[in-house]
Amino acid sequence: MKVILGMVMSVDGKTTRHNAPDIYHWSSKEDQKHFFSLVEKHDVIVMGRRTYEASRPVIRLTPGKLRLIMTRSPEEFKKEAVPGQLEFTAASPGEIISGLSQKGYSEILLAGGGEINTLFLKENLVNELYLTIEPKVFGLGNPLVAAEALDINLSLESVEKLNIEGTLLLKYSVAS
Ligand SMILES: NC(=O)c1ccc[n+]([C@@H]2O[C@H](COP(=O)([O-])OP(=O)(O)OC[C@H]3O[C@@H](n4cnc5c(N)ncnc54)[C@H](OP(=O)(O)O)[C@@H]3O)[C@@H](O)[C@H]2O)c1
Repeated sequence: MKVILGMVMSVDGKTTRHNAPDIYHWSSKEDQKHFFSLVEKHDVIVMGRRTYEASRPVIRLTPGKLRLIMTRSPEEFKKEAVPGQLEFTAASPGEIISGLSQKGYSEILLAGGGEINTLFLKENLVNELYLTIEPKVFGLGNPLVAAEALDINLSLESVEKLNIEGTLLLKYSVAS
């Protein structure tokens, strides 16, 4: 299973502007286009419950595309769930990956947030990171990963300047 982590952040590594959960007020339209093309390309998108709640207004459920939301209380979301399109799970990253592999999936998009990214990174389950760096400094905001000790080496695969302001799309692979 290939796992691609896709996130946008400020130059100082904040994935939200201060305490506001919505990222679409500050991320560039070029990054939004890039991210929606990633969503298009993937049949499974895994995210944390807080990310789900922040992005719920822009999520359009479609048959054949599964959003898998990690929460310790999946039963609280029973009414919201749409089998095959919007599912809630308390399974660990490893269990999620093996369950999806058994169903025949070969690549998933990991869409944050920091807490869930850390769970996958800690278990060495991320293969690539697509990081968009917006030319902004927020000082305060959510981190790319939770404040836990990690020691992961990356290899830069490509750098693309997405617009005149200097939004950069960095693609890294995780060194084995
Ligand atoms: N800039 C970007 O690209 C980007 C991308 C994604 C998110 N974000 C932002 O990041 C913020 C959310 O990030 P976050 O780190 O606070 O939260 P998160 O990673 O989205 O979700 C955290 C939640 O995941 C669930 N969880 C954690 N560990 C779990 C485990 N072992 N098993 C099952 N479920 C588990 C818990 O849900 P329960 O509390 O329900 O148990 C926890 O509250 C939002 O504001 C969002 O907008 C930004």
